[in-house]
Amino acid sequence: MCGITGYIGSSPETVLLKMLKRLEYRGYDSSGVAIKNGKITVSRACGRIQELEKVLVPVEGGKLGIAHTRWATHGKVTVANAHPQVSTSKKWAVVHNGIIENFAELKIKLRYNGINLVSGTDTEVIPQLLALSGKDGIAALLDVIPQLSGSYALLCLDEAHDKLFLAKNKSPIYLAENGQNVYVASDPACFYGYAETYYSLNDGELCEAAVGDIKFYTAKGKLISKEAEVLSGVDEESGTGIYPHYMLKEINEIPKVLRHVVEAYADDAYVSKIADIIEDINRIKIIGCGTAYHSGLVGADLLERHLGIETSAHIASEFRYCNPIVNENTLCIFVSQSGETADTLAALDTAKDKGATTVALTNVAYSTIAQKADIVLPICAGAEIAVASTKAYVAQLAVFYILALKLAKALLNTPETALKNLNKLSREKLLLDKPLLDDVIDFFDKSPSAFFIGRGLDYFTSAEASLKLKEITYVNSNAYAAGELKHGVLALIENDTPVVVSATQQSLLAKTLSNAKEVEARGGKIIVLSQFEIPADYTKNAFQIKLRSVDEDLMSIVAIVPMQQIAYYLAVKKGNNPDKPRNLAKSVTVE
Ligand code: M6R
Repeated sequence: MCGITGYIGSSPETVLLKMLKRLEYRGYDSSGVAIKNGKITVSRACGRIQELEKVLVPVEGGKLGIAHTRWATHGKVTVANAHPQVSTSKKWAVVHNGIIENFAELKIKLRYNGINLVSGTDTEVIPQLLALSGKDGIAALLDVIPQLSGSYALLCLDEAHDKLFLAKNKSPIYLAENGQNVYVASDPACFYGYAETYYSLNDGELCEAAVGDIKFYTAKGKLISKEAEVLSGVDEESGTGIYPHYMLKEINEIPKVLRHVVEAYADDAYVSKIADIIEDINRIKIIGCGTAYHSGLVGADLLERHLGIETSAHIASEFRYCNPIVNENTLCIFVSQSGETADTLAALDTAKDKGATTVALTNVAYSTIAQKADIVLPICAGAEIAVASTKAYVAQLAVFYILALKLAKALLNTPETALKNLNKLSREKLLLDKPLLDDVIDFFDKSPSAFFIGRGLDYFTSAEASLKLKEITYVNSNAYAAGELKHGVLALIENDTPVVVSATQQSLLAKTLSNAKEVEARGGKIIVLSQFEIPADYTKNAFQIKLRSVDEDLMSIVAIVPMQQIAYYLAVKKGNNPDKPRNLAKSVTVE
């Protein structure tokens, strides 16, 4: 992961750090900056960017620089492992997003050449190799790039030039210019307020940037020209507003997001692109990671049931290695809030190679996944900043619901009321008042572990609710298909172990409640998440979170919102920052 920024112009510290703060979603283990005024001065610190600001070494008359916010992959979270990484000679400073997979053999080569490596990172080999090449600027980079295998967005400073040097393979990097200023970033959103157009580098491309002189190269050093793209779909980061955290703000935005989805899908333009080819499709695969995978599970259930086409959901990091049966009659839907998740992107490449029609269901129109897919379905959630996905998950569910019902209409001529139902749902009170949740927050707070069970769609809600809880409260929680408990998991139930039983599907209610009774008989604390009146015999020792009743296919949305709220409030109660949970990052751009 990691975020990188670069800048040429006056006041580099200010601009570099302002852009870098927009990239903290890519990691916040440590950060650093290198400013050049003749020589290169490096400042680095562990933790968030405000820690870097405390130790920043002022550079009088600095003209250019590079900066980095890190999500640690190779090497612990220490100052020595923070970027920029520099060559022993201090001639080169480099920031890197990605993984150099052959770093071990490159370290052997460097040691053989008498170079002493001081960090535990894979990245350090790059400035050292640049220095070892004995060349300057782009010539040095052209020399080193063929030696690297893995993924990289690289941004380099060379003591000999007032230029920035860039290279890309599988990790994003963008560049913009405006008058006397040049900007580089991992996400074009950083250019908001600075430039109106920007350039994207493709895999294998390099760039040498000075004010008024931007040159793009192939990996073989051949000059190429590029068209600038218009910066659109990004806004100024609006802050948390009246809310103490982004996560709470984003949960509160869910009704508004549902209305945006309804508006965007009102004219059928998006769905018709799939409706036009659906008759040729005999298999649908939905691919994503984490929360996006969970929405894919719901999507697969809806599509298979409504269309009668075999549909399955897959974890992206498994998909590409399991030799999936995919051909030109397969529709592959890639779900990704960010549109940059490395595993999902790699799975997309696999599906394209096999001839599938590919769809990106994403929140970021300019993202790599959106650019590569044949069809884009926007989820219209607006910027999601908190690491824990909330409103984007709900938006993904809403788009799947529309897709399933509208495609069923196109294919089978079934009546559909998707937009009407969603519009109605967006006007319901989806968030529950905190006092109604306090008991459950307390049960989770007192227990070292928690379980979530359900059947069918409720199993998928359980998986997502469990992920939310563990991600930001660090409670060890797990989700199981309710029928699986007696096949092993029941052994873990002790007195007062909280078990959330999702039961929103009438046809599965009796069976799910029986499973709840099995847990209760072993002393577990049952919390029923349902819109139904549960018979007193089931609820006398249980706690019920009463949900409003809507189309059962939409209950996945109704049920997840209070669980998102509970996870949020418990994280705050435990003193955790719910927006930036430990060890995680919002955008996962390494495999
Ligand atoms: O940007 P993506 O939707 O591709 O991200 C996928 C997962 O990394 C993401 O959903 C993750 O599981 C969330 N932090 C969960 O809240």
